Amino acid sequence: ADAPARSNEIVTLQAHILQQQSRYPEASGQFSWILSALAISAKMIASHVRRARLDDVLGTVGNQNVQGEQQQKLDVIANDILLRTLGGREGVAIVASEENEEPVILRTDDADERKYCVLFDPLDGSSNLDVCGAVGTIFSILRKDRRSPAAQASLLQPGVEQVAAGYVLYGSSTVFVLTIGLGVDMFVLDPAYGAFIRVAQGLRIPKANKCYSVNEGNRLSFPEGYQKYLSWAQERGYSSRYAGAMVADVHRILLQGGVFMYPPTRKAPKGKLRLMYEANPMAMIVEQAGGKALSAPGERILEVRPTDIHQRVPVIIGSSEEVDHVASHL
Ligand code: AHG
Ligand code: MN
Ligand code: MN
Ligand code: MN
Repeated sequence: ADAPARSNEIVTLQAHILQQQSRYPEASGQFSWILSALAISAKMIASHVRRARLDDVLGTVGNQNVQGEQQQKLDVIANDILLRTLGGREGVAIVASEENEEPVILRTDDADERKYCVLFDPLDGSSNLDVCGAVGTIFSILRKDRRSPAAQASLLQPGVEQVAAGYVLYGSSTVFVLTIGLGVDMFVLDPAYGAFIRVAQGLRIPKANKCYSVNEGNRLSFPEGYQKYLSWAQERGYSSRYAGAMVADVHRILLQGGVFMYPPTRKAPKGKLRLMYEANPMAMIVEQAGGKALSAPGERILEVRPTDIHQRVPVIIGSSEEVDHVASHL
């Protein structure tokens, strides 16, 4: 695997965004402000996550979200933080969240050329919080489709249209992984300064690694091809790793290689993961790092035409050779 580029310069996420803005003709000041709202959200959410057992933020709020899941208190807190930070930024027209049934329209004024839509999973893997496990935030940025006045329709663009995507992993450290379509860069939050510091540029995912990440408890309800793949991999001595938070699982695969999957199951015939908040942003990151992201053999996640903002999609994401091994069994 190529080692991530690392120089001795100290570059913060803010400085990085400004540097990119000058390299990337598409990037406007508005776009940079949106990224800075995401960075401050990440710091605020991290500080809540770090205090999870000290403050009364664990457990459910007693509501179900539109996904049919019990909302955790921190799902709601993280969602509010993102809505409040993004709500103040000029460039944001619409935000859509896993936790809100309807997209939130912030600005309808069409006079401005560039308006962005930000979609997010405010807290990924939220049930891990109760056991001090890793959680994350995932985001995707689309240009507002001005031909579609209705908010829902304007958001229903395939993942190839994303102008940026990223995630934050609240793990043993807080990591911010970002792509604006020029490769993948990684930052770590220095808790002493409260700044994200760039630690890798142009990350490349290893081409292969004998590791799969899937909820194997569901094995008997996977389509047969996935079951055959698992037997094939086990005969070859593959390792299994599963944190139960997509951000943590995909982050491991991005750095070390392997394949992450959420196949269709009897209970969830299209898989569990959501196209707009989880699959598309992760697919953009992994492809930008040289990996693959499919929903089925020969079907790129990024080319799936969305019909509903909350729709789900099967996910096979990771090292190109490992994704090919899975696909060849399906
Ligand atoms: P969320 O907490 O945002 O609802 O997402 C949970 C997702 C994802 O993070 C993870 O990969 C998957 O659920 C785990 O599902 P299983 O418990 O079915 O394995
Ligand atoms: Mn959820
Ligand atoms: Mn999630
Ligand atoms: Mn979530």
